[in-house]
Amino acid sequence: MEGTPRPGQCLRTWLRESGATAVKKGCDAGDCGACTVHLDGAAVHSCITPAARAQGRAVTTAAGLAATAADRGPGALHPVQEAFVAAQGFQCGFCTPGMVMTAAALDDDQRADLPRAFKGNLCRCTGYRSVRDAVCGRRTVLTADEAGAGSPVGRSVAAPAGPAVVTGAARFTLDDPPDEPSRAGLLHLVLARSPHAHARVLAVDAAAALAVPGVVTVLTPDDDPGVLYSSARHEHRTDDPDDTLLLDRVVRFAGQRVAAVVAESEGAARAGAAALAVGDEVLEPVLDAEAAMAPGAPAVHGDKGERSRIADPARNVAAEVHGELGDVAAGLAEADAVHTGTYRSQRVAHAALETLAATAWTEGDPRDGGRLVVRTSTQVPFLTRDALARVLGLAPARVRVVAERVGGGFGGKQEMVVEDVVALAALRTGRPVRCELTRAEQFAATTTRHAMSVEVTVGARRDGVLTAVRLRVVSDTGAYGGHAAGVLFHGCGESLGVYRCANKAVDGWAVYTTTPPAGAFRGYGLSQVVFAVESALDELARALGIDPYELRRRNVVVPGDPMTSTSDESRDVEYGSYGLDECLDLVDAAMARDRAVAARVAPPGWLVGEGMALAMIDTAPPRGHHAHARAALVADPGTGRARVRVSVGTAEFGNGTSTVHVQLAAAALGLPPAAVVLAQSDTDLVRHDTGAYGSTGTVV
Ligand code: FES
Repeated sequence: MEGTPRPGQCLRTWLRESGATAVKKGCDAGDCGACTVHLDGAAVHSCITPAARAQGRAVTTAAGLAATAADRGPGALHPVQEAFVAAQGFQCGFCTPGMVMTAAALDDDQRADLPRAFKGNLCRCTGYRSVRDAVCGRRTVLTADEAGAGSPVGRSVAAPAGPAVVTGAARFTLDDPPDEPSRAGLLHLVLARSPHAHARVLAVDAAAALAVPGVVTVLTPDDDPGVLYSSARHEHRTDDPDDTLLLDRVVRFAGQRVAAVVAESEGAARAGAAALAVGDEVLEPVLDAEAAMAPGAPAVHGDKGERSRIADPARNVAAEVHGELGDVAAGLAEADAVHTGTYRSQRVAHAALETLAATAWTEGDPRDGGRLVVRTSTQVPFLTRDALARVLGLAPARVRVVAERVGGGFGGKQEMVVEDVVALAALRTGRPVRCELTRAEQFAATTTRHAMSVEVTVGARRDGVLTAVRLRVVSDTGAYGGHAAGVLFHGCGESLGVYRCANKAVDGWAVYTTTPPAGAFRGYGLSQVVFAVESALDELARALGIDPYELRRRNVVVPGDPMTSTSDESRDVEYGSYGLDECLDLVDAAMARDRAVAARVAPPGWLVGEGMALAMIDTAPPRGHHAHARAALVADPGTGRARVRVSVGTAEFGNGTSTVHVQLAAAALGLPPAAVVLAQSDTDLVRHDTGAYGSTGTVV
């Protein structure tokens, strides 16, 4: 490649601007390694390598590494890439080109200490075990020949995208080729964010921003479409409160967007955002969930009416749950031991390696037969389309949402965070508009796991049989209430539902504070409440002198028990296959085996601890989660041989649904997996798909 980098430009941006999309961006701070390339054969983080330093030197990307195997035939991979495919050393695959480049540069000494060798490469998905398998040359999936015989269901077939992932050819959100409509006259959008936890925006003076060369327009609260919505996406929109505006005049957390600057380059947009003059009236913040419910606390959404579906705006309660089975007071009175404790859990960031990003453009006038197209990193393309149509006043048929491979989700992309603002900007300017959040924005201004405070009271007879369980749960939903009710209800419902006890009670509140909004996150409230309940049960077991496994065995639900849940829709759900007793026995036995090993290998003077916990999650929402699929016979463009093209709506973000969809179709049609090609995550492909969340991708 030839070209002259801008002064100070890093090698990563220079390579990507030159079309080398195998080079990814996860942090731009030299931490994550997604941008790793070889410079004269040595692995470097291209985001902290000045582009000018590469002059006259050999730069190799994951795509270039594959090219070194070209003499072995079309589609041949470098041995390291073959090893990553054989061991499925990836899930979403966003980190994988960087991982491959680091692995390919290792010498024998470095291979002897893999944690050290890979300390500059982060993977959010795999837990590194499959990466280690790859580097050590282990095969964990069937070869193509093996996969071709018999039903593929229940066997480890390779992910269809494997070769594309390891060579960096798999397209993620911003990996669009230069000749696509999304790139013609592309503008860049940067969000100006408030430093205040609570404030009223009095005025946004855009004059200085508009004076920055390259700035095209500035969107302010004056441009807000005036439609309240929730960034959370569910099949039923009304599951979440309508408490959010695209550009609000009230700031409810430090980092909330107050304006959007659109410019010819990202640098100009950033300079424009810095030049904006925002006049604010600073309001009293409320930073603690308990304090937020106290009389006199500032009402974070005091301006909202009934139609927003907020449980109690005056008390900052977004959602609440209260219920009692039996008589908890009587149950505690008959207990031989009672334990009460309060367990707190903190916010957690999803930290998907691909930050939230979207590009929007128009094909004609969406109000006159044309279309708005949005390419975005989302777990829920169809639900995002519906929300965009509603907020922007367009017919759903006039909006198309496309997701490429998604670089990790974990619930953080079950939200509409950037799509609305790029879409508005594209409609206003008539040009493609792109926004890519920085890692700092991702931490400060996107959703997190709900921080919770859970008070648990448990009582049991001397023989360990539970007589009462009571929960008091306060969940901090932050500035906006997306997922507030669902997370609270799931957390309380299933953590209690797994135990058979005649007397159970729960009081729970999801509470607004002027802190960053919480949202969906793996486990959906269970991690927090299960942590509390299981910790309390361990204390109870200790007080009773009963083994913690035994305490669970004596109290868990068994087939035939009714399912108790906070959700009306779950009341007629029955337990299907049941392996909880076997699971407890297996874990107990494995831990006993490892106890002896741990005692042997622990350094002298070290203590060895162990713990156990039990959890149930209702992963298949009982209502409102459905999908369409389509299958067609097509000719392979390369060989002309017949293939089955299966179209589905759901996105692949490392959850493996693409692999499973191919397995299901191949098994149903009696074909090898290689005869099935998958098309996915485009609202033009099928009629509807709720999306992949709640571990429902395979079930639905
Ligand atoms: Fe490593 Fe997703 S596979 S970040």
